[in-house]
Amino acid sequence: MGDLGELVNLREFEGAAQAVLDPVLYDYFASGAQDEVTVRDNEAAYRRLTLVPRVLRGAAPPSLDVTVLGTGMTMPVLVAPTAFHRLAHPEAERATARAAAAAGVTMIAAMLSTVAVEDIAAAARTAEAERDPSLWFQLYIQPDLGFTEAIVARAVAAGCRALVVTVDSPALGRNERNDRNDFHDLPPGVRCENLRELRGGEPGSVRQVVLSPEISWRHIDWLRGVSDLPIVLKGVLHPADAREAVANGVDGLLVSNHGGRQLDTTPATADQLPRLAEVVDGRIPLLVDGGVRRGTDVVKALALGADAVALGRPVLWGLAAGGEAGVSRVLDLMRTELVNALTLCGCEAPRGVTRDLVDGRHGCA
Ligand SMILES: Cc1cc2nc3c(=O)[nH]c(=O)nc-3n(C[C@H](O)[C@H](O)[C@H](O)COP(=O)(O)O)c2cc1C
Repeated sequence: MGDLGELVNLREFEGAAQAVLDPVLYDYFASGAQDEVTVRDNEAAYRRLTLVPRVLRGAAPPSLDVTVLGTGMTMPVLVAPTAFHRLAHPEAERATARAAAAAGVTMIAAMLSTVAVEDIAAAARTAEAERDPSLWFQLYIQPDLGFTEAIVARAVAAGCRALVVTVDSPALGRNERNDRNDFHDLPPGVRCENLRELRGGEPGSVRQVVLSPEISWRHIDWLRGVSDLPIVLKGVLHPADAREAVANGVDGLLVSNHGGRQLDTTPATADQLPRLAEVVDGRIPLLVDGGVRRGTDVVKALALGADAVALGRPVLWGLAAGGEAGVSRVLDLMRTELVNALTLCGCEAPRGVTRDLVDGRHGCA
C-alpha cells in the first residue's frame, strides 16, 4: 500500500488498487458486460453535462446533511452494494462498514457479502448509532421464498433500515473479461456468509445465489408482507417501471444500470435520470448510481432530480488500496469536492440545487 494521502481524487484510487490487486480480481471489479459501452458512458455522461452556477447569493457554507427514508446521512452519498469485499481486502465488508459509519455515510450491504450481515452491522455501530446502524440491505429475491424471508429477517434483526431490492438481474450479465480469465468461482475460503444455511444455530453449507427471470411485482407485494422496512427498487431504467413502482407503493427507486455489468448498451444513468424524475415527480425518493466520481457529478445528479447518489467501484478501489483508511479517504475526498462544488454553485445545501444549474447542450467531454 502506498501513501493514501498522495491520492487526490477518486479516479486515482483505481490505479492504486490496480497496483496491489491480482489482475484477475482487478478485472472482476472494473469490468462490465460485453463491450462495456455502458461502463464507459456512465462516467462520460456526467462529463457531457455542464454546470451553470449562480453568483452573489450571500450563501452560508454548505451543510450536506440529508435524510432519505428516515435514515440521516451526513452527505447525499451512499455506499452502493457491491459483492465480495474480501476479494479486495482481508477485512472485507467490516472495513467498509467502519469507514462508512465513521463518515456518517449509509452503506448498502450486499446480500453477496463475504462477511455476515450481523457482523457488518456490528462494524457499522458507532457511539452515535449504537442501536440503529446507518445500514441498508440489498436483496436478490430468491425463488425459495422461505430462504429469502430468513435472510430478510436476519437483515432486520441486525438493524438494517431499508431493503434495496435489485431488480435488474433476472440473469447474470455476460462478462467477457471474467470468461477470458476463467474467473467463475470464489477462491477457497471466501464465501457468501448470508447464504449459509443456519440449522439450530449451527452454521451449515453455503447456497448458490439464484438470479431468476420469474421474479415479478408479485414478489414485491410478498416482500411488503414479510417486513415493515422501506423498499427501494434498484435497477429501474424504464419510465413505465418507475410509474408502476409508485403505483405499487414502492418507497424509493435507485436508478441504476448495475455499473454497466448487466445489460450492455443501456443508457447512462445520468442521461436517464431526468425521465424517471419526471414520472416520479417527487412522490418517492430517487437515488442514482453509476459513474459518479466527482463532487460536481453529485451536484449534477441532484439537479437532475436525485435525492442522493451511490458510489460503487470507488469504494472498492479505496478498500483494495488501503482497507478502512482507503475507504475513509475516498469518502473524505468526495465530501470535500461536494462542499466545494456546492459553494461554487451558490448553494447552501443539497436541497438548494435546482434543475437550471445543469445544462446538457454544451458538452465538455
Ligand atoms: C464488483 C461489483 C460488484 C457488484 N455487486 C453488486 C451486487 O451484489 N448487488 C447489486 O445490486 N449491485 C452490485 N453491483 C452494482 C453496484 O451496486 C452499483 O450499481 C454500481 O457499481 C455503480 O456504478 P459505479 O461502480 O460506476 O459507481 C456491483 C458492482 C461492482 C463493480
